[in-house]
Amino acid sequence: MKPYVLAIDQGTSATKAILVDRERNIVSHGSAPVALSAPRPGWVEQSAEEIWESCGTAVASCLEGHDPRDVAVVGLSTQRESLLLWDRSTGRPLGPMLSWLDRRTAGDLSLEQRSAGDDAGLDAAAMVKEVSGLPLDPMFSAPKARWLLDEYDPDRRRAKAGELCLGTVDSWLLHKLGGDHLIEVGNAARTQLMDVRERAWDKRLTQLFDVPHEVLPTIVSSQGPFPSAKGLGPLPDGIPVTAVLGDSHAALFAHCGWTEGTVKATYGTGSSVMAVASPSARVPQGMCLTVAWDVGEPTWAIEGNIRSTGATLTWLAGVLGLEPDDLADQAAESSEGVVIVPAFSGLGAPWWDDAAVGLISGVTFGTKAEHLARAALESIAFQIEDVLSAVERESAPITKLLVDGGPTANETLMQLQADTSGRTVERPLDRDLSALGAAYLAGLAHGLWSQGDLETLRRTRETHTPQISEAERESRLRHWHDAVNRARHQGG
Ligand code: G3P
Repeated sequence: MKPYVLAIDQGTSATKAILVDRERNIVSHGSAPVALSAPRPGWVEQSAEEIWESCGTAVASCLEGHDPRDVAVVGLSTQRESLLLWDRSTGRPLGPMLSWLDRRTAGDLSLEQRSAGDDAGLDAAAMVKEVSGLPLDPMFSAPKARWLLDEYDPDRRRAKAGELCLGTVDSWLLHKLGGDHLIEVGNAARTQLMDVRERAWDKRLTQLFDVPHEVLPTIVSSQGPFPSAKGLGPLPDGIPVTAVLGDSHAALFAHCGWTEGTVKATYGTGSSVMAVASPSARVPQGMCLTVAWDVGEPTWAIEGNIRSTGATLTWLAGVLGLEPDDLADQAAESSEGVVIVPAFSGLGAPWWDDAAVGLISGVTFGTKAEHLARAALESIAFQIEDVLSAVERESAPITKLLVDGGPTANETLMQLQADTSGRTVERPLDRDLSALGAAYLAGLAHGLWSQGDLETLRRTRETHTPQISEAERESRLRHWHDAVNRARHQGG
């Protein structure tokens, strides 16, 4: 049997590819950058064609020195919520892809004031949250869908005639591979057009956002059926694609986080905290219910999205003229009372407060760059902890946090997370967990290994355990929450 699984992780700033052998070791990496453009304040766009080309480039660099014919099967993980519109007959995009970071529709979301159609008694925001599992926010695909259609098909004539296709990144890549118009169920769960429990497009949502059903892709499970690989660099055409997952969901899968109670945090530009949960779980304020994946049986998760974590380090490093890694390495042992609340574009979970403003408090003449660096790191750990405690209020105690993503390489941050949370933090040795999750599922679906194999052969993990007293932890959190309250109630 052919020895390798190839996984492609199409992310916001780069497409990565990994080659995984039968023992689940990553034997090769490749990557290709992708550009973001910001033509106006709040607008963030990407080129769908560039995204497709980056997949071939990343695959080519990953397969250097390997025989492409040794790839048995392919898995995909993708950035979520970003949306594009294309012409079904030509396959060409109409306009740019609107990134999940794009906030151009913020002004259109005064939906709370509008009627929710048939659902008497529920206002639109409550109906959207109840049915889709997601709070109203420009991050999700539905308001982007309305914007794209208003721009390119204002009377919806072409959409209703089936001439146009809306799709997320997974839809687009699957279309490029085989011409079908599909979406994987976990990605569909992040569009805000799907009933999260029924796992089907919902008429109340599509009507509210004025999106005709004819323009939407067919929802398929995380194991497809998908078209085979085609046009992916040197990879021979026809190799089966057997897994597609949203990137954050793929990371949870790679942690072998399949059972209720497992909680992971992915640290990136922002952060996604996901806890496997029942679809009937109470969803804490400011958080989402989402389908994690469907591999024969659907699995759901509660997710908290934090808007700025790694981005805070990048921002502060830029202000101080340092590299983000150097900044983190320079952090002092204590912030000496300095707190940074990184509400650069409001606050995400668990506050979900667009009006919150970013602030730095507790600055004195003695404040130095290393105290600010410490406060920036602390803001990441505090925000993750706020989500964990909100989840915990509705579930069993969370004693262990599984972590992944670039910033988790920082030892100070990991110890801070354990101290701030009073929980054990477990970090896998592998870094590319989203790609690895797609590889794990692709191999599983192809019969290369079993779920048991993945669990038993799971990598040894590095752990950080809390080293401060409970009283100290509570005092730090009080100090943080005082600052968060100020950030949320500036000007009264
Ligand atoms: O929800 C957005 C997320 O999927 C983007 O992930 O890794 O591209 O920043 P990433």
